Amino acid sequence: MGAQEPIKEIRLMPIKNGTVIDHIACGQALNVLKILGVNENNIYSSISVGMHVGSATLGGWKDIVKIEDMELDEVTAQKIALVAPDATISIVRDLHVAEKYKVKLSDRVVGLARCSNPNCISNKGEPIESEFSVVSKYPMQLKCCYCDKILMNITDNLL
Ligand SMILES: Nc1ncnc2c1ncn2[C@@H]1O[C@H](COP(=O)(O)OP(=O)(O)OP(=O)(O)O)[C@@H](O)[C@H]1O
Ligand SMILES: [Mg+2]
Ligand SMILES: [Zn+2]
Repeated sequence: MGAQEPIKEIRLMPIKNGTVIDHIACGQALNVLKILGVNENNIYSSISVGMHVGSATLGGWKDIVKIEDMELDEVTAQKIALVAPDATISIVRDLHVAEKYKVKLSDRVVGLARCSNPNCISNKGEPIESEFSVVSKYPMQLKCCYCDKILMNITDNLL
């Protein structure tokens, strides 16, 4: 590293192997941790969290989460897209970024969340998957394809 090169992410510890979830919408880091299932029963990965960190690329503020010894699966990345549609996921192996991609929010969100309407057909034990269309990204609004209701509290209704 040259002397002129700026130091990146000085607030957070570097990790040897694991995942960096960067460019999280400001304030959403705790929801990302919830999606990752981080709790007292899951203490085998060290996690560092940066909230309200200045971001040059987002032109403002962002959150960032770094998890050691964990690589995310596709479904988890899709759920993260629902709370942080601009997040970037980097897989770090042996201190270097080995893979990097932006989370992808598809037009149809299938099988990731349950409808918040208890009377919805998708909540009646029928053999159908929940399905929502994305009405708006900021704020995130999902509309149930079965009952047309807007999903309330997305993070409380993730499957
Ligand atoms: N070994 C590591 N430990 C912890 N974090 C890392 C490590 N290597 C890279 N990162 C982080 O992973 C993310 C992606 O790394 P990259 O080098 O692509 O950053 P970048 O040039 O800032 O990219 P971007 O344009 O996406 O912001 C950054 O947040 C970076 O700080
Ligand atoms: Mg960066
Ligand atoms: Zn519904």
